[in-house]
Amino acid sequence: MSTDEIRKRYLEFFKKNGHIEITPSPLVIDSDPTTLFTSAGMQQLVPFLKGEKHKDGKRLVNIQPSIRMQDLDEVADNRHFSFFEMLGNWSLGDYFKKEQLSWVWEFFTQELGLNPEKLHVSVYAGNDEVPKDTESFEIWKKIGVSESHIHFYDAQKNWWSRAGEPSKMPTGEIGGPDSEIFYEFKSVSHDPRFGKFCHPNCDCGKFLEIGNSVFMQYQKMEDGKLMELPQKNVDFGGGLERIAAAVLDSPDVFHIDIFSGVIKKIEKETGIEYNSDSGKDKSFRIIADHLRASVNLLSEGVIPGNKLHGYALRRLIRRSMFHFHLLGSGISGGAISHIAEEYRRFYPNVNKNWQFIEDNLNAEATRFEAALKRGLARLTKAVSGGDEIDGEFAFDLYQTEGFPLELTMEILSQNGMVFSLVERNAFESEFEKHRQSSRSASVGMFKGGLAEASVATTKLHTATHLLHAALRQILGDHIGQKGSHITSERLRFDFSHSQKLADEEIKGVENLINLKIKEDLPVSFKVMSLPNAIKEGAMHFFAEKYGDEVKVYTIGNSGEVWFSKEVCGGPHVTHTGEIGGVKIIKQEKIGSGILRVYAALK
Ligand code: ALA
Repeated sequence: MSTDEIRKRYLEFFKKNGHIEITPSPLVIDSDPTTLFTSAGMQQLVPFLKGEKHKDGKRLVNIQPSIRMQDLDEVADNRHFSFFEMLGNWSLGDYFKKEQLSWVWEFFTQELGLNPEKLHVSVYAGNDEVPKDTESFEIWKKIGVSESHIHFYDAQKNWWSRAGEPSKMPTGEIGGPDSEIFYEFKSVSHDPRFGKFCHPNCDCGKFLEIGNSVFMQYQKMEDGKLMELPQKNVDFGGGLERIAAAVLDSPDVFHIDIFSGVIKKIEKETGIEYNSDSGKDKSFRIIADHLRASVNLLSEGVIPGNKLHGYALRRLIRRSMFHFHLLGSGISGGAISHIAEEYRRFYPNVNKNWQFIEDNLNAEATRFEAALKRGLARLTKAVSGGDEIDGEFAFDLYQTEGFPLELTMEILSQNGMVFSLVERNAFESEFEKHRQSSRSASVGMFKGGLAEASVATTKLHTATHLLHAALRQILGDHIGQKGSHITSERLRFDFSHSQKLADEEIKGVENLINLKIKEDLPVSFKVMSLPNAIKEGAMHFFAEKYGDEVKVYTIGNSGEVWFSKEVCGGPHVTHTGEIGGVKIIKQEKIGSGILRVYAALK
């Protein structure tokens, strides 16, 4: 069964059971200094799990693209990903354990036809604070799961919150006991190291977790205790790719449709066969996984760089290229984008923004090739000279040559050397120092840009929002604001886009802005929490400068239909007509993947 079919059946099944489909969040979160990416479907629902009313009701469903980059090393096995799609359904204080567990079981066994004999479930074993989940145990038995397939685990395994088990939850965080479903691959024998002690939560690969129903009903309080939330929620998440592998009965998730074409292309480019005894499967998986994450991040306008999201993307691209290099094929942007292009078939947004993605992959390949040459020479010299490779050395290599830490570690391990955790921490602390200083510099810059709030700058400020929205409408969703500066003479706007605009594109953008000015649309704002602003679809940028509450400016406010919605401090005109007219006066490329345009009032 194709992954597309699984997606369809999941959404249909839960809609049939009263759920409303909600729009997934973007992958990129730039509003929260502690999180760079969306890593679970529940992330956008936290206020509603805590009791706020959701406009679409109490039963929700969606498929959330997610990024988890905590441990890239795991990707080399056959079932972990940096990017994946999470099938999710939620009860916001509506149904609870009985309905949820029965539906999940019905979905897996009836809709997808998984053999019940191969399914195992886990249940929370309890501790001093939260009792054993005998209710779920009884429900599973009633559903028909044999007792030998129901396993009890403690909070380390059977409790879910974004931070992990209760002792790790910060104040205010929500979580609860959960019940997972595992698929057993009969063809895989128990890892001899674990022998008869192998069990569903063992990491040997015989069992694959394919779904997790979290009973989200607790919040961590200041005194460290757990308090019951005002409502009992369900938060279900299941990895699409793993579910597809279970349907295929393949313990190697890289055999599913999304990856098979990519793996074939890597085979063709390198002349090496996947699943042969070449010992190179790890590199195939890293390339396939990291390129998939990369093209999806690029499709949202992230570009490789040295900070935050850009750095995460750079690591992914460079690591995939390094493994391509390890397969003996050198580093070729052309080959990499040829392989990555396969993902256009599966992700419409990647398809739509392909030109931008390809340009950036190629540009990064060129940069990386040079970096790799220089970095390898320095590393080899240091290694052969018997020098100690410590955190500072690794950071300097990163800082001056753009040589990612993972590569330093990988090369050391190929030379039988270990980069210790202490050194890794030293690298991280150097990195953090660097990040802090560049962040305060950029926030300062932004403030300076708004200091002069005359009538002209107010008009230009609103014109900037119109420009941003018009660019997105005409060029695509990958357009994201990278910088803005306004004087009384002109506005300047930097955004992610890989090539200069054609004359007709400039005309198109200009015409759309002036049309919106002519329509004399109202400009209004509302104060709300940032999560609510994001939920309403507001664009946001440089979120560090906002407090708990933000102002959301809407242009053309008539219910659901608006032209622009952005988190912003203002000031703005009250109607677009006041602007008079706007003209784009200049454009320039200011770095790879960033375009700068200047515009003035007519
Ligand atoms: N939020 C839960 C998870 O990510 C379902 O596993």
